[in-house]
Amino acid sequence: MAKTKTAFFCQNCGSQYPKWIGQCSSCKQWNTIVEEVVQKDEKKGWKSSSSSAKKAATPLRISEITNEKETRLDTQDQEFNRVLGGGLVPGSLTLLGGEPGIGKSTLLLQIALKLAYKTLYVSGEESQKQIKMRADRIHPNSENCFILTETKTQNIFQQIAALEPDIVVIDSIQTLHTDYIESAAGSISQIRESTAELIKFAKESSTPVILVGHITKDGTIAGPKILEHMVDTVLQFEGDRNYVYRILRSLKNRFGSTAELGIYEMQGSGLREVNNPSEVLISKNEEDLSGTAIAATVEGMRPLLIEIQALVSTAVYGTPQRSATGFNAKRLNMLLAVLEKRAGFKLAAKDVFLNITGGISVDDPAIDLAVLAAILSSNADIPIEKGTCFAAEVGLAGEIRPVQRVDQRILEAEKLGFTKIYVSKSNKIGLKNTSIQVQLVSKIEDVVSSLF
Ligand code: TYD
Ligand code: MG
Repeated sequence: MAKTKTAFFCQNCGSQYPKWIGQCSSCKQWNTIVEEVVQKDEKKGWKSSSSSAKKAATPLRISEITNEKETRLDTQDQEFNRVLGGGLVPGSLTLLGGEPGIGKSTLLLQIALKLAYKTLYVSGEESQKQIKMRADRIHPNSENCFILTETKTQNIFQQIAALEPDIVVIDSIQTLHTDYIESAAGSISQIRESTAELIKFAKESSTPVILVGHITKDGTIAGPKILEHMVDTVLQFEGDRNYVYRILRSLKNRFGSTAELGIYEMQGSGLREVNNPSEVLISKNEEDLSGTAIAATVEGMRPLLIEIQALVSTAVYGTPQRSATGFNAKRLNMLLAVLEKRAGFKLAAKDVFLNITGGISVDDPAIDLAVLAAILSSNADIPIEKGTCFAAEVGLAGEIRPVQRVDQRILEAEKLGFTKIYVSKSNKIGLKNTSIQVQLVSKIEDVVSSLF
């Protein structure tokens, strides 16, 4: 039996060392030395059955490769399926990242409970009792979901071999510990080695594996960047913890588009799929309020109507305050400068606060016009007429610029009962016979005179 051998490698230049040192003596970089497995004791890792033992691959002409449609496992969760591009691909590795407490464990447990396939949910973070308590709230009766609390990779493979699940969920990759390497769980070498073994398992047994990954303070997935290269799909779960809405995005997808987006609402009984996001993101105020405007945006592939609120008040201190939640503060300053120059508004002595409701953040430039409209409405204290929405970008010269997929935005606004939408004159609109009034504008002045 070959014994496991490890060595230490510099991640910067690749030099090898027998033991850990702080500074690489060849490239002089600090803290780049990481332990790696050089030779493995094959008995302990994932062992494929002899029938599926790998045959050496042979080259094929591209025309000889069959392109049958990829089979997909239905996750019973429409939003999750959509983001994956139609469901889980057999043998794929999916990494789900997100801030602590955002709902990663809840989302995956919920999917595991609803699945019609035999699922193994491995948790290194919570006890079986804790998970049971959570499961009772979400979906109490599930016959196919097995819970394992284990952090040792080799023991997990033993259980997998005994249970033969159709889908494996690992919560989280940072808690896994492989016998081959002595460093602590969560270290770069541990994460890389455990992931490599899981990939081997997934590919050889055609079982999809979903990993939970923690993210660091600056929002990247903790651990080596290489983790993101190793897996097939990287999903990110985001949202503001103080609000109930959560957005599932795909950052990388080898089997589908990364433009798709899933929206959930956190409830007492787990996450609810939000199939019609526009309706929940717009508050239903009976009274007319000044300072709010509706923007027709497109997030991923879906049109989405969001509400923008602005508050303009007299600045108390010398320097006026500018604050934006869910919107780029630099862009807000730019829009204010445009307003000052082109529409003659004296905003230099005013505080401006901007908020996108629902705690979501948007970087679609098409919300510019709605932002301006909300600011103008708050400044003049005149509400914008009910049933009005906006979809246009604003340029530095105060011109109203066209946006992508304007037809889709108009249709969504019409569907939600809006009666008027402001878009740029230069937008080519293919739609005919819409019941919504499409107001074409080319300058800020046109918008101001039409609104107030
Ligand atoms: P969790 O899935 O533990 O987050 P993560 O795994 O990303 O760290 O989510 C925890 C939060 O979700 C927690 O603050 C409570 C909330 N929650 C609900 O509001 N309703 C529920 O049904 C569940 C299970 C959790
Ligand atoms: Mg968790």
